[in-house]
Formats: sequence, structure tokens, C-alpha cells
Amino acid sequence: MCGIVGYTGARAALGIVLDGLRRLEYRGYDSAGVAVVAEGGLLVCKRAGKLANLEKALSERDDWQPPAQSGDGAGQGGGAAPSPTGISGGTTAIGHTRWATHGGPTDRNAHPHLSSDCRVGVIHNGIIENFAQLRDELEGCDVEFASDTDTECVAHLLCRELEQSGVEDLAEAMRRVCRRLEGAFTLLAVDANAPDTVVGARRSSPLVVGRGDGENYLASDVSAFIEHTRDAIELGQDQVVVITPDEVVITDFAGNVTAGKDFHIDWDASAAEKGGYDYFMLKEIAEQPQAVAETLIGRLTEAGEIALDEVRITDQDLRDIDKIFIVACGTAYHAGMVAKYAIEHWTRIPCEVELASEFRYRDPVLDRSTLLVAISQSGETMDTLMALRHAKEQKARVLAICNTNGSTIPRESDGVLYTHAGPEIAVASTKAFLTQLVACYLVGLHLAQVRGIKYADEVGAVVAQLQAMPSKVEEVLTTMEPVRELARELANSRSVLFIGRHVGYPVALEGALKLKELAYMHAEGFAAGELKHGPIALIDEGTPVVCVVPSPAGRGVLHDKIVSNIQEIRARGARTIVIAEEGDDAVLPYADDLVRVPRTPTLLAPLVTTVPLQVLACEIAASRGHDVDQPRNLAKSVTVE
Ligand code: F6R
Repeated sequence: MCGIVGYTGARAALGIVLDGLRRLEYRGYDSAGVAVVAEGGLLVCKRAGKLANLEKALSERDDWQPPAQSGDGAGQGGGAAPSPTGISGGTTAIGHTRWATHGGPTDRNAHPHLSSDCRVGVIHNGIIENFAQLRDELEGCDVEFASDTDTECVAHLLCRELEQSGVEDLAEAMRRVCRRLEGAFTLLAVDANAPDTVVGARRSSPLVVGRGDGENYLASDVSAFIEHTRDAIELGQDQVVVITPDEVVITDFAGNVTAGKDFHIDWDASAAEKGGYDYFMLKEIAEQPQAVAETLIGRLTEAGEIALDEVRITDQDLRDIDKIFIVACGTAYHAGMVAKYAIEHWTRIPCEVELASEFRYRDPVLDRSTLLVAISQSGETMDTLMALRHAKEQKARVLAICNTNGSTIPRESDGVLYTHAGPEIAVASTKAFLTQLVACYLVGLHLAQVRGIKYADEVGAVVAQLQAMPSKVEEVLTTMEPVRELARELANSRSVLFIGRHVGYPVALEGALKLKELAYMHAEGFAAGELKHGPIALIDEGTPVVCVVPSPAGRGVLHDKIVSNIQEIRARGARTIVIAEEGDDAVLPYADDLVRVPRTPTLLAPLVTTVPLQVLACEIAASRGHDVDQPRNLAKSVTVE
């Protein structure tokens, strides 16, 4: 969703806020804007489209005045003479990059939004659910709105508290306003009368504080300020924070002073840079061997056991579990689908995987012996969070698998297993997916080990196989040139289909999702056995079909079945692109294009078979001239339902 940055200190705030927005742009890129407290007022510039549009506008002049409060107010500046300090001179600012919810992605709907007298500027991530009511109330008091957003209500309400209710400072005004808001929100506000203060508030939406020396930061995530400070504070639910250059004060919405949770950011600032790659996505694909290795580190013992002390759910509680639900969205859901195969096989506990957005609406049967596993890279996905809350209400135990330290989903869970993918900036998930798979395997093996049931004796063997996975993923990456060439050939295809069986089925779904979101091309994944029940009618002369073939070892039946499916589609004219392990010669007669992956036990195979599909989608999208890192209509973390 939207990216939010606030700064106050001794340095020029504009550049710092823009740098932060550049690092947060993956969260939304429909429009961007800044408000700088300077010259006794707010200087504001905002533009529809990517951050580059805002930067261009800012580079053209320095005297941005608040936009007119009607019409297309995009900080036109009213022709004022250039000011002595201008927008680049102020030392307190807020900035926003938007993924539109209320109101289309236009200049006038871009944040910040201002109170009518231009005293207060507000940026917001989330949705204020009772905004229509609030807007009616404000309009009833003759307040004129300059945008179609829910956010603008907050600017007017804050101003009303300050000007009419006798509230002395912005923090108290913010607390009063937050108590009236329904929904999920992160808000940052500045007041022209408080030149060195930024006030933030959060409910079910991310906000972290960065502590500097004589300066402080607020942001949706730490990547916005990591080049300036590694000391951060996690805020709790329903809290208001005030930063000045020398102080950070946190209260609840009632005004009681409270403490945030300090943490140190241990990843390098360069982790959020492209590091010589054309796209973040390419860099993140290349980082997968390391991400897999780091997610395993410290969790496998030399004795071949799983050590997950950090999970915080006791062994006894894990022994009492009689049912597992996995909830997640998109790519994370595909990781959950793979997990179901592994967890049921190793533990013999019934395991269901469900789209988080559907889960609570079908009234699932849960109780205290249910374990709900919530998988989320960002830890902020609203659908997953709501599923988790529903499970907790039914007394189920909740374990999060998450890549973002201190985010809402792990905070609200009984236990958490962090993936160590590092920051994932490209909107399309790659390295986070592989680490989610690893974390799911660890959870399954841990459960099998704790419960000591039939398949627990497989744990030792799988531990050894898991340890070999980083180098297998590395091996796949060294053989991707033919996949890139193939991608260039397929760039003008009308549609690409993906088929797989068993864990190859979620891999097929993931390959199709990557292609849809990056290349805007029709792509669909199918369980290979389902083709003949309908989808085979889609196959025409030359239709590319990517076939994810399981290992012939172990589950030979599956392998032979999919080879038959490949023959069926080839007989109908499909161009078969076969992903098969080294030494599998049975596929040779039926593969128009063959992509080899290292031999890998069936359950772990998604760690290698997914990689060529990521490369394929990335390369097809690039050949079609799309922005690979920021596909249209998407945002990295989806904090609305
Ligand atoms: C696709 C993708 C999305 C996310 C989904 C869940 O490439 O990235 O489908 O997987 O929005 O996000 P998280 O994992 O942050 O809950």
C-alpha cells in the first residue's frame, strides 16, 4: 500500500524524504507528494504518477505554496516570487507515495491533504471506513473538500481540534481524531505552527520510528531511513508518536505515555539498492541461494534435528494440535499449498490451505487444538491479518511465517518463524517465496519431530537434503540463459499455460501468477490431471505450455502421469516447455524446450522448479517493455481488504 516518510532534524528535509520515498515506492506508485514546514507555513508539491513526476516538478521551482483548495490543486504555487529558503530549505517534512483506494490517482487526490486554512498537512496509508459519515459532518459545517479521498477528513478534523476545540498541540488533536476513526490507518501530520514536529498514529497499519542524532524519522518501513540510522522503534496498536529533533514520545490514543519496542536493523543499506542489476527483481532472484541459506541458519542442528526455539509455542501445545489451517494470499498462498503436501505427509495432521480473503467468511471450524499458520512476507496483509484475528477469536493457536520484523501479523500471533530473505523491493515476490517454502518445511519437520509419529524418522534425511538446497538453487541460476532466450521468443504469445502435479501444481500456479502480474499476459496454472476436464480446449497450434515435471525417483507414478499429460497436449499442437530434473530422459521425446533442474526430492523440488518460472516471467515482461519492479495496479503490501 502507500509509503509514508516523515523527518525532523537539522538537515534539509526534502532530500531526505524524497530518498525515503524512492525506497518505499514499491509500496505504491499511483502518485506522490511532500509537505515541508517552512517560512511559517506548509510548502506542498504533489503529482499523479510515479515519484519521477514529483521530482521533475520539484526540480522546476522551489516556491511551492499550498495548493488551491478546489479544482486540480497540485501545488501550482500561485505565481509567488521565489522564497528565500523555499521547499528545499525546511528541516521538517512528510512525504507519501500512493496506491489509490478512495479517489482516482490524480494530482488532487495525491497526498498530502491539507486543512482548509492550509495549517495542517496529512498523509495516510489505509482506509478510514467511517469517512463518509465524517465527510457529511464536516460538509455540514461548511468545510469544502478539495479531493475525493478519505484522508482529507483527517486534515479538517485535526484543524478543527486545534482551532475550535482549544486543543493546544497537534499530538492531542491527533489522539482525539484517532478515537473517532474506524478502519486501518497510519497517519502522519505536520502543523505550520509547530515547525520541528511530526506526529504519527497507527492502527493495524505499519509505522516505525528511526532514531537519529539530533534528528528523527517516521516511516512505513525501515528501508526509508536505513542509510541514516539503524536504531528503530516498533510502535504498538493504537498509538500516537511525536517526533522532534531530540525526542520521541509515544502515547496511546487516551494520552497515556507508553514505550515502543526498540530494535536494531541488522541488514545493510545496500540490501535495499539494485546493486548493478537492471531491476530489483533480478537482484532478488539472484539472492535466493543466500536467502534460503539464511532462513536455515541456526535452525538445523548437527545431529540432524530441527531447533525452532523462537517459535514460542510449547511442544505440549504442538502435540495437542489435531488440525492445521494455512492462510495466505497470492504467492504466499502458493507457498502454503506446497506446505500442505509436506506437513500432512510428515505429521499426518489434517492440513487445509485457504485464501486468507475467504477464510473467515465461510465460518471455519476452529478450536484450541487448531493451529493456524499465517504466511506473509510483509506481515501487514489485511486479508491475512483478519483471518488470523478470526482464528484467535475461536481460540486457535496462531503461528506466523513472516519476513518483516515487528510487523502486525507476527505481533498478533502466538509464535513466529521469521524468514530471512532480507528486504524484498520488487513488487513480484521471489526470494520471499523460496524462504516461505523453507519456513513451511521447518514447521512441518518440527511438528513431526515434536510429535514423534511415524514419519519423524524422515526428519534427519530431509534436514540433510534441505542443507543442500542453497547450492541447488545456485546451480539453477547458472543455467538460466536459455530460459531468457526462450522468454524473448514467447514475448508476443497471446497466452501461456502452466501445468503441474502434486507440489508442481502450486509451482504452476505461481509461474502463471508471475507472468500475469509482470507481463500483463493471459496465463493460467492447472493441475495437470484437470486439463482433460475442460482447460485442454484452450490448447491450439503453438500454445506454450510450461510443464513442471516431478522427479521420476520416489513418486514415479506422478512422473509417468504427467508425461502422459504432456503427450496429450502435444498431440493437440501445444509447444511444450518442460522443466525436468537432470537425468530424466523419459521427457525428451515430448519436450519442445527443455529446462533442467538439479535432482531434488519431490517435496523440496519447488525450491528449484520455481526459479526458471520467475526468470521466464521477468524476461518476458522486460521484452514487452514493462516496468518489472512496479507492475501496473499493484502494490507490495496490501493493507486493505
Ligand atoms: C505476487 C505477490 C503477492 C503477495 C501477496 C501476499 O508476486 O507478491 O501475491 O504474495 O500480496 O503478500 P504478503 O506475503 O506480504 O502477505
